[in-house]
Amino acid sequence: MNRIFGQQHVNIIFENPSKQYIYPLIVALYIMSKTIQGFSRLSKTEKIEWLCTHYLNKNPNAKAILSQYWNADEEVQRLHDEFIENTISNYYLPLGIAPNFIINDTPYAIPMAIEESSVVAAASKAAKFWMTRGGFKAEVLGTVKVGHVHFTYDGDPDELLFFFEEIKSKLIKEAKPITKKMEDRGGGILDIVLKNKTKALENYYQLHCTFETLDAMGANFINSCLEQFAETLQREFDHHDISKEYEGKLTVIMSILSNYVPECLVEASVSCHISELAEGPGFDAQLFVTKFEQAVQIAQVEPHRAVTHNKGIMNGVDAVIIATGNDFRAVEAGIHAYAARKGSYRSLTQVTLDDDQFTFSIKLPLALGTVGGLTNLHPLVKLNLEILGNPSAEELMQIVAVAGLAQNFGAIKSLTTTGIQKGHMKMHLMNILNQVGADDTEKYQAINHFKTSKVTHSAVEDYVESIRK
Ligand code: MEV
Repeated sequence: MNRIFGQQHVNIIFENPSKQYIYPLIVALYIMSKTIQGFSRLSKTEKIEWLCTHYLNKNPNAKAILSQYWNADEEVQRLHDEFIENTISNYYLPLGIAPNFIINDTPYAIPMAIEESSVVAAASKAAKFWMTRGGFKAEVLGTVKVGHVHFTYDGDPDELLFFFEEIKSKLIKEAKPITKKMEDRGGGILDIVLKNKTKALENYYQLHCTFETLDAMGANFINSCLEQFAETLQREFDHHDISKEYEGKLTVIMSILSNYVPECLVEASVSCHISELAEGPGFDAQLFVTKFEQAVQIAQVEPHRAVTHNKGIMNGVDAVIIATGNDFRAVEAGIHAYAARKGSYRSLTQVTLDDDQFTFSIKLPLALGTVGGLTNLHPLVKLNLEILGNPSAEELMQIVAVAGLAQNFGAIKSLTTTGIQKGHMKMHLMNILNQVGADDTEKYQAINHFKTSKVTHSAVEDYVESIRK
């Protein structure tokens, strides 16, 4: 399609009203009717007005739906309005609690923000199961965060290395105003290494920089340091002999932290004797372990399964990350890259069997913060952190890893025994009842009825219809 925009094109079209312009004219007018300059400068009411006129004109309830989600407390609403740009309302997620987690002998009730039914129930069930079997163990294996100054250089690599070694201390020194406070608390820049990446991409080099950001996720700190490094690097190069002597050119491309943090790593595990896995008479613990181990092995070798296996882990991870005001997109990206670090996408969990001792463990890269960002601003985030005992970033890493492991344990246990649908559809029953518009009496009757029969969407629909008759 020949896309055209703007007044200039409209003029041409009117001057040349031939057929070839008719369709682009319609497209141009349509685009003009649906787009706007200066939207961000409108007040909230004006933004909603514009949206309702141009995109929601068929919905008479649109304004009411948007305002229904505003917070009654103006102060709280103002806070939310200012988290992002162009705010028109709030988007709620349910906040659930998964109690009975024992992590390194400390009890936790874990807040989880998620829209999917069954997730909180599965976490709670797994927590309760392991509560009587020693609980969860967790350990932080590293807290190193990473960022890069990406640049190109077309001269002699040895000269560049020599130049870098000469200016390295200056790079660190000129970042002092940014790093001072973090250093006072025990963090800061760990190292800066020059990496030659020219085998991967012509003339491509990077400053690979590592940081310790303590209880802060550290994105702003790291990016500020990197931009300062870039400035120093460019200035020093431009004034250095190397540029004159070799006529080499160095160009900074960009400076940004990496969300791939394989050295900011946490491990969590559960362990018990195989016989302890039995949940009552008739439960074949050995068969359960065999199938459980094979299910995890399948996710080690089959990416199709690994993705769903890890998605289940992320149900737990993301729910805690969101509840504690952390950046779930960063965590997601980093974890999936870690899952593929050996060249194919694999399970994040593993099973070991040693002398009839069953151990189920997870390793996750997690760059989290418990200070700064939303953690100091969002009233519910603050409350959720309080529920968790105001953890340090390292403690939160452990809690999140445990939530992921618990979720995976619950999923594999269901998948290899009863199947996932039985429990899932039971939990989903209320959503289906709401979808078919069931009232309280109908819900009560349906919940009783489906205690003993299989929940499917059509079965619920039929049942509600039958009791309405
Ligand atoms: C559903 O949200 C998650 C599961 O599919 C995870 C899994 O299959 O392991 C149940």
